[in-house]
Amino acid sequence: MAKKPLNIALVGYGFMGKTHSHAFLQAPRFFDVPYQPVLKAVVARNADRVRKFADTWGYQSAETDWRAVVDRKDIDLIDIASPNDTHAEIAIAAARAGKMVTCEKPLGRTAAEAQAMVSAAEGAGVANMVWYNYRRVPAVVLLKTLIDDGRLGRIFHYRAQFLQDWTISRDLPQGGEGLWRLDAGVAGSGVTGDLLAHCIDTALWLNGSIAEVTAMTETFVKERTHTLTGKVEPVGIDDASAFLCRFENGSLALFEATRYARGHKALYTLEINGEHASGRWDLHDLHRLQWFDHRDEGRVRGWRSIHVTDSDHPYMKHWWVPGLQIGYEHTFIHQFADFLLGLGEGTPTPPTFRDGLATDCVTDAVLKSAKTRQWEAVPAAHVKVA
Ligand SMILES: NC(=O)c1ccc[n+]([C@@H]2O[C@H](COP(=O)([O-])OP(=O)(O)OC[C@H]3O[C@@H](n4cnc5c(N)ncnc54)[C@H](O)[C@@H]3O)[C@@H](O)[C@H]2O)c1
Repeated sequence: MAKKPLNIALVGYGFMGKTHSHAFLQAPRFFDVPYQPVLKAVVARNADRVRKFADTWGYQSAETDWRAVVDRKDIDLIDIASPNDTHAEIAIAAARAGKMVTCEKPLGRTAAEAQAMVSAAEGAGVANMVWYNYRRVPAVVLLKTLIDDGRLGRIFHYRAQFLQDWTISRDLPQGGEGLWRLDAGVAGSGVTGDLLAHCIDTALWLNGSIAEVTAMTETFVKERTHTLTGKVEPVGIDDASAFLCRFENGSLALFEATRYARGHKALYTLEINGEHASGRWDLHDLHRLQWFDHRDEGRVRGWRSIHVTDSDHPYMKHWWVPGLQIGYEHTFIHQFADFLLGLGEGTPTPPTFRDGLATDCVTDAVLKSAKTRQWEAVPAAHVKVA
């Protein structure tokens, strides 16, 4: 059957603009989806560079102001891949114009911003999704299915870390292209909203809601030159963030993220320990799931390393022959294929904006606890807006 066209406008052509564009092109080639993405427009502020990006990736037009694509009648979906301070304004305008909206993480810089985005999207009844792509790593999906099958039994512990080392130098400026992550006004927060948000989204998905948190954050380099003003200015982001928490299911957890762990570039690891079994995953070895089942025969019991490449593993029948691996970029292809399948069936594709709000509620509580030095309850994000 012929696929229906889905006209897309992408906002932002940086790191994520490329992963999304690649997903738009590859999803209908590898997955049997009911829609054909049409790369209608790409938006970014520099006219020459956005034109070049449009030519490289096959976008039919280039714009320098996102408002132009919100107003265009020939656009069905606005995809937001620009810095965090742009997410709410663009998403709310797009939803009000009746467009579907997909948005990079974190959904908002704060839960209040995310709540406004949820209200706009749910109020307009438009399809929406947040690009928490680690939910689409086959090994992580395999772990989710084992947890849902009850293979772990009662859950006692969850722990996750996301470690990087790229901001240790004092000479690195804040603000502007590439370094907007160091500018609290643009990013909202530091590693809490950037790296921990990924860990939290996966954790909420695998282990349910978080009830309360106690956190500490640190800004190791307190002043940096601002690229836009040329002046040395205070740094408002957290360079490192760690928290303890209690999940609603009674399990205890530890989370840590930093950009000051020398030697680590993007080490996202997670582990979950249950009564019968444990699972462990590591982004640097993303096609493997480490699995221990205490019910195995004692003589051969031990951690096994499952190479998640077989055709009965999640997503893998769409790729190469068993034994051959896929990578980071495929997580975005999987997520967009799921979104197109959801559209065909008329069902929301998680993580939705409401799921993104749930993560922002946790990151807000983490930042609050770091200030108050108290345990902070995480507000629920489950009340639907009519
Ligand atoms: N899912 C993930 O794993 C992941 C990874 C990296 C970044 N992100 C998120 O993706 C978003 C973008 O990050 P990035 O690393 O791609 O950043 P980037 O700096 O590489 O690219 C940002 C792009 O946005 C454009 N831009 C900035 N302001 C704009 C505006 N007002 N209108 C239109 N375009 C504008 C810039 O020109 C640039 O093309 C952020 O929200 C970030 O948190 C998610």
